[in-house]
Amino acid sequence: MTRKKAAPRIDVITLFPEMFEGAFGRSIVGKARERKQVRIGFVNPRDFAKDRHRTVDDRPYGGGPGMVLMAQPLFEAIKSVRKRGSKVVFLTPQGKPFTQRLAESFAKEKHLILLCGHYEGVDERILKHVDMEVSIGDYVLTGGEIPAMAVADAVVRLLPGVLDEDATRRESFASAQLDHPQYTRPSAWRGAKVPEVLLCGDHAKIEAWRREAAAAATGRKRPDLTAAK
Ligand code: 6GU
Repeated sequence: MTRKKAAPRIDVITLFPEMFEGAFGRSIVGKARERKQVRIGFVNPRDFAKDRHRTVDDRPYGGGPGMVLMAQPLFEAIKSVRKRGSKVVFLTPQGKPFTQRLAESFAKEKHLILLCGHYEGVDERILKHVDMEVSIGDYVLTGGEIPAMAVADAVVRLLPGVLDEDATRRESFASAQLDHPQYTRPSAWRGAKVPEVLLCGDHAKIEAWRREAAAAATGRKRPDLTAAK
């Protein structure tokens, strides 16, 4: 008997699940959920707090400003969703830089658990219970929620059937380059004309122009992409 493979699952561990309503509601991610191409769940560490105030943070040992998320509620939250084969990703500015390559590798996972940190930090002892630390760039956000949205968005659009297959194939082909410029109607707007070649109907010629324009844009806007590899 052949059985259809279960859709991949993403669980987000966050104190602020309501932040995700917009991003995961009416969007490509929302549509993918409706079509059951991905399952997305939320776990709130507050539900695993031990006291009646449902406390999840405390003052740092050694003193200093701010509060630290306690390891125990985070651990219990992970434990409540983790199975064999789950990948636990902790969103932190100290993590490995998130790239398209990493998105492609996450898109192959059956179950991603995205753990959002918050406040001034989390108890370091939770790190033993995560598989990977990931950052979305060298700047500091107030929490891991926006990074988790970015990671989930980048991963979900790569899942089978979510986007037009053509678009994703062409993109992975040229992943070390910026995309070529795009234009739509009208062909002249405020004195700026669409490049003539795009109107000529010769697809080989258009392809050649696009390759050239993509290389030029990459060299001009992101020379670092050309230099690396
Ligand atoms: Cl993953 N978390 C936070 N708090 N800030 C960040 C980040 C993550 N990535 C870049 N800045």
